[in-house]
Amino acid sequence: MKIVAIVGSPHGAKGSTARLTRIVLEGAESEGARTETLFLKGNTVLPCLGCDVCHKKGHCPQKDSFEEILEKVRSADGLILGSPNYIFSVSAQMKAFMDRCGGIIHCLGFHGKYGASVVTSGGGDEEPIAAYMDHFMMITGIQSVGSVWATMGMISGDDFPEAISHRARELGKRLVHAWKNKESFPEVQQKMAAFKERMRSLMEYRKEEWPFEHTYWKEHWGLK
Ligand SMILES: Cc1cc2nc3c(=O)[nH]c(=O)nc-3n(C[C@H](O)[C@H](O)[C@H](O)COP(=O)(O)O)c2cc1C
Repeated sequence: MKIVAIVGSPHGAKGSTARLTRIVLEGAESEGARTETLFLKGNTVLPCLGCDVCHKKGHCPQKDSFEEILEKVRSADGLILGSPNYIFSVSAQMKAFMDRCGGIIHCLGFHGKYGASVVTSGGGDEEPIAAYMDHFMMITGIQSVGSVWATMGMISGDDFPEAISHRARELGKRLVHAWKNKESFPEVQQKMAAFKERMRSLMEYRKEEWPFEHTYWKEHWGLK
């Protein structure tokens, strides 16, 4: 299994989110997964321009690392999203990545992959942020197997408490097991099916304006 982790902290590999994500990856690696971590620092992924070119032509005209990151995710079996809590939400870097995935979302272009989410915060409120990243993954076609988080204000020293490290390692292992066993999560599947129907209607409605996505739907999802 190949897993790509995307960490949306400006602190990159040295940040708390990257350190917690690393433990998840160690769990996955212990079950045989190959992993790669990508950091959304600086202008790696610029904000979406809302130009609709991705819907019309299937690529983004902006010159940054987005398309390269996309290729890596496309060729992976699993995706881990890691973000710090920035004002009760994901970081701007992570949000920019999500917004740029509009074309992927319309096509459920990551369908069949498995995911997990990682959040760190200063003082708490991680759960809705993890749920938001899981929801994002669902609308791209990914089934999330769960999440892990840590409140850094409650942690002294450089190491995570063993309870959190254990949860992180187990999450990584669960991700690999889900992929190996082709697991299906009925609740996620149900939401995904409903979302897919919304996108099907959208594609029928926008077929003239968005030829790339309409063709994708005809080829992959049997749109007439
Ligand atoms: C712009 C900004 C906004 C933040 N907002 C919150 C917040 O709303 N709640 C919170 O608990 N921590 C907040 N924090 C703290 C970070 O979530 C926390 O330090 C996190 O572990 C940083 O992860 P990193 O080292 O991977 O960047 C904020 C930090 C920054 C820089």
